[in-house]
Order: sequence, then C-alpha cells, then structure tokens
Amino acid sequence: MCEKQEKGKMKVVETIKEMKEMSNRLSFEGKSVGLVPTMGALHEGHLSLVRASVNENDVTIVSIFVNPMQFGQGEDFDQYPRTLQEDMEKLLPLNTDVVFAPAMDIIYPEGFNTHIEVRKLSDKLCGAFRPVHFGGVATVVTKLFNITKPAKAYFGLKDYQQTLIIKKMVKDLNMDVEVITCPTIREKDGLAMSSRNKYLTSEERKDALLINKALTKVKRGIEEGSISTDKASEKLREILCTGSHITDIQYASAYDPETLEEINGKSFVGRSILLAIALKAGKTRLIDNISVNLNR
Ligand code: PAF
Repeated sequence: MCEKQEKGKMKVVETIKEMKEMSNRLSFEGKSVGLVPTMGALHEGHLSLVRASVNENDVTIVSIFVNPMQFGQGEDFDQYPRTLQEDMEKLLPLNTDVVFAPAMDIIYPEGFNTHIEVRKLSDKLCGAFRPVHFGGVATVVTKLFNITKPAKAYFGLKDYQQTLIIKKMVKDLNMDVEVITCPTIREKDGLAMSSRNKYLTSEERKDALLINKALTKVKRGIEEGSISTDKASEKLREILCTGSHITDIQYASAYDPETLEEINGKSFVGRSILLAIALKAGKTRLIDNISVNLNR
C-alpha cells in the first residue's frame, strides 16, 4: 500500500492480519493514518468525516462494520441497511485509501470474551434506554484503533454522547489517538442525517422535522433570555408533542455537556450547555442535539 498517493486507488481489506500489516508498514514509513469508523449506509455526514480525514492525514481508512455488540435485543441489527457496493462508490471519489470491511467472525471469533465499559457516561441519555450500546461501541472502537493504529479518528457530533465516551476511553486508557469531532450534517429541511432516516415513512419524516425545530427554537429562546434552562425540557416537549407520529420521547432536555447530567437550576453562565433529544418517530429511534452558548 502507501501508493494512496496514486489517486482513485482504493484498497478493500477484509482481514485483521492484512489490515495490521498495512498499518504497521504505514507507521514504519512515518505516514499518518486517519480512521473513520462507520457501520456503512454512508450519507453526507459520514462523507464529511472522510473529507476531513483525507485533508489532515497521509492515509485515510474507512471501516465498515455493523457491530452486533452495540445493538440490544429487539433493536434493528438485522434490519440495519448494508450497502457495501454503494458505500464504496461514494468513498472512491473522495480519495479514500482503504476500506476495512471485516466479516462478523473476523471481529468477534468464537470465544471472544472482552468488554470495554466507560462507566457513568454510558448510563446516561441513550445509555438509559440502550443499556448494552456504549459498551459495544467502546469495545469495537478499541479493536478498530488497535487494528488500524490511527493518529486521528473522526466522529460526528450527532452522536454527541458517543464522542464524549470515546474521548474519555482514549484518555483513561492512554490510547495514542486524537479524537476529532465534526459538525452534524443536516438535510436542507434541518433533519440530521442518519442511516436510520431510511426507515421513516413520509408522514413520520415530517414529524421528525420537529426535532430540529424544537432544538433551534429553544436554543434561540435560551440565548435571548425568553426561556430559562430549567424550562428547556417543557418547551422542547411542547413542540415535539405536536407530532402525531412521535410515539416515544425518551429524553428531551438541557444537559451539562461534560457530565450529561440534567441542568436543574445550576448556573452555566459563560459556558455552553447541550440540548439533546431522543425519540421514536413511528418505530424509528432518532437522536439529535445542539449546543447553546450562555454568555449572559
Ligand atoms: O457511530 C457509529 O456508526 C458506530 O457507533 C461506530 C462508531 C462505527 C462503532 O460501531
């Protein structure tokens, strides 16, 4: 490898042995590696991470692996879109160097028995509704870091809690990788891009627009001083509840962006807070968030 450099050449690697040989060689040659971990079904959000990595590193590896460990029972692991061919067609023009697309038994061979848990942060927000999720994410991301040895790894801020957990894991376990977070990419009408948007009917999608509407309206209200942070949850829910296809609001409130604790009367003057929402539109679980600067 290392002929990246020859534009338009993208290598597909399926085994850990080959991926490790390649990353060891790159490291020996002093080449910086950027990793974009994904579960495929790539959209503009993923592609923005790939562009950032291609700009900042000698070599960009995109991993595509639908990780069973991060799905709970009854979640959409079987249904999750698998579109490897289309994904590769999207990655090629971006000058992606390597697609690492291992099969399930390559990542989790028989007898696999190790689990990484980032305590506290993993129980909050999404973790309260998806108890196995972040342990599964932390475990597979650790494996991907060990296999690809990136200098930088790229994650989207739509999954804000995931980025916080991965940063904490990297710090606690002294991993030699810089976690780079990139802004949420939205459709023209404001819906945050997600591979799961494919599941939405057109009526559900209309109601899903209430998520961004609620976040931006309450953010503006807080910034202008017409909504106090203590009223954020009530105001968000008021807007979300107008959607007849919004079936389950799991959380919707203002949170400390470092601890993910709900704000409840604490002063955040001069700091930022996080407005975050998780809900179901029909049967599809959607999440989104926005940061609010409190300069007053
Ligand atoms: O954000 C995702 O797509 C996944 O959680 C990740 C980071 C690729 C781990 O499977």
